[in-house]
Amino acid sequence: MVNYKDLGLVNTREMFKKAVAGGYAIPAFNFNTMEQMQAIVQAAVETKSPVIMQVSKGARNYANATILRYMAEGAVAYAKELGCKNPEIVLHLDHGDSFELCKDCIDMGFSSVMYDGSSLPYEENIKISRQVVEYAHKYDVTVECELGVLAGVEDEVASEVSHYTKPEEVIDFATRTGCDSLAISIGTSHGAYKFKPEQCTRDPKTGKLVPPPLAFDVLHEIEKKLPGFPIVLHGSSSVPQEEVDTINKYGGNLPDAVGIPEEQLREASKSAVCKINIDSDSRLAMTAAIRKYLAEHPDHFDPRQYLKPARENMKKMYIHKIVNVLGSDGKLG
Ligand code: 13P
Repeated sequence: MVNYKDLGLVNTREMFKKAVAGGYAIPAFNFNTMEQMQAIVQAAVETKSPVIMQVSKGARNYANATILRYMAEGAVAYAKELGCKNPEIVLHLDHGDSFELCKDCIDMGFSSVMYDGSSLPYEENIKISRQVVEYAHKYDVTVECELGVLAGVEDEVASEVSHYTKPEEVIDFATRTGCDSLAISIGTSHGAYKFKPEQCTRDPKTGKLVPPPLAFDVLHEIEKKLPGFPIVLHGSSSVPQEEVDTINKYGGNLPDAVGIPEEQLREASKSAVCKINIDSDSRLAMTAAIRKYLAEHPDHFDPRQYLKPARENMKKMYIHKIVNVLGSDGKLG
């Protein structure tokens, strides 16, 4: 059993309190590889931003649970080496699907876990969420729970249809589970294909898809019911068109990929939304840079040659999100 405090990590409690009061959101970036971890830490240090590094069940299967936990510990040491005296880094389990998985992560040094029972019947979701909260709070680990279902595919988490969170349920759910933050469904979804073309309109000038707006009315209803309570948005990649274009130009095939417009995420960040999850944009930034590099240098085969521009491209994207979308820059300490 290792406690996250011994690894130099922090939980989300203070971070979220400040973010809600200050009208900004904390970036929650998923990671699976060393290059993603390095890019996240470099971006957070350069912008003086707190950051959540999150690990999904799929990431644990891909990279190995033990390795990821040591990478997070390494991230804290790396941030200090880069000159940040007091980094605020959270190691978070994304979409824990059982009590056992959440417990395993808490016992391995995670400072925050998500239990996602959103696809279960309401009472069942409350029961297991409560069980996770009781265990986590013994170790001062914070817990995110979810109400409402997001459409889309992310690792093992998949749903065909979305159901917006019902504002009339949130007080009962938050009170009975004791959760520290609540992930809600207001129209975001996982992956690079967040909307079907028939759900969108087309910009007549560019021919690109324009997605339907997020349900801000539902968000505001929830905020009224739970004033100041930390709200989380999953599925918040914007699927930058330039990365999609680069991928397609260099042999990829991502037709009609579409994400959440950044102005809407900026607006959400100013509300009680204090954690915004971004994974697909990092995947796109990495893949675009690698495809371009390999197409332009067909004789190169040293992974460092193509992973270096991939890491740079991800770092640029993370800095952009922190500074121009979430507004968490300069918020350390
Ligand atoms: P994206 O697929 O939009 O990046 O969402 C990631 C996410 O919500 C992780 O939980």
